[in-house]
Amino acid sequence: MTRPPVLAHTRAELDGVLADARRDGRRVGFVPTMGALHEGHASLLRVARERAGDGPVVASVFVNPLQFGPTEDLDRYPRTLDEDLAVCEREGVDVVFAPAVDEVYPEWPAQPQVTVEPGPLATVLEGRTRPGHFRGVLTVVAKLFGLVRPDLAVFGQKDYQQLVLVRRMVDDLCLGVEVVGAETQREPDGLALSSRNRYLDTDQRLEAAVLSRALRAAQQDAVRGVDAALGAARAALRTSHGVDLDYLVVTDPELGELPGDVRPGTEARILVAAKVGSTRLIDNLPLTIGTQAEVDR
Ligand code: PAJ
Repeated sequence: MTRPPVLAHTRAELDGVLADARRDGRRVGFVPTMGALHEGHASLLRVARERAGDGPVVASVFVNPLQFGPTEDLDRYPRTLDEDLAVCEREGVDVVFAPAVDEVYPEWPAQPQVTVEPGPLATVLEGRTRPGHFRGVLTVVAKLFGLVRPDLAVFGQKDYQQLVLVRRMVDDLCLGVEVVGAETQREPDGLALSSRNRYLDTDQRLEAAVLSRALRAAQQDAVRGVDAALGAARAALRTSHGVDLDYLVVTDPELGELPGDVRPGTEARILVAAKVGSTRLIDNLPLTIGTQAEVDR
């Protein structure tokens, strides 16, 4: 038997429903989202449910205006609260926090005066085409952490740069939240689930699967080194016409540069971003870099 989650729209309502759990010292698990929940989000809710033990799981549904650029899809971002509540009920979420914009940003549409400066990692990869995006993400995550005061929070590896930056913020600002990175959920052909996939037409949807095929090819060929991995991914991407590549890079797990002489067994990450039609898609996978010597052995 599942129980519908309590829906809190205000800070006061949220405090009210969490008061008992906080007083009893139960662990609060948290999954921040922008709604339009799909199976990727559901998997995060399951991780939170499991990790929070007998404590409450809170999911937030908030389309954060501060992380959208002026030309991005803020207005057409899907808003499906009733369906989201049904997903949350199915996954055993206790509280859904769905605040209005002025509950989070009382001065809106004026910008908040104090925001989180994410540093240099926010200017590469996604940050290059989306200036200000990660400042918006980290600011809202910090605010939501302040409102929910979770013990643990679950983020998807799908948005890998976001996950790395949230971890960074929690460490650098001593926020004391355990950050859990959950695996990317995919369609049967490998396409990472995303609320943006709904913008793809039938042909684009088929084309889009080349991104994950490229990452998998890289993962297999990583045993022969970084260049081989990148070469395999590029070869896979060349088989597709409708995909306009933005970046394809291999980094260390913290998104830093890999050293020139990579030791066998080094953990790395391959990240890709591309436009399919007018829809921008991102994906990434872990790599274990090997050496040709290992392959020959
Ligand atoms: P949103 O895009 O709704 O994503 C919420 C969480 O779901 C993120 O942690 C994201 O990485 C995760 N997620 C998305 N697709 C996934 C998939 N296919 N598999 C696993 N997890 C997936 O990310 C945001 O919202 C916002 O930036 C937010 C953190 C809520 C701040 O506004």
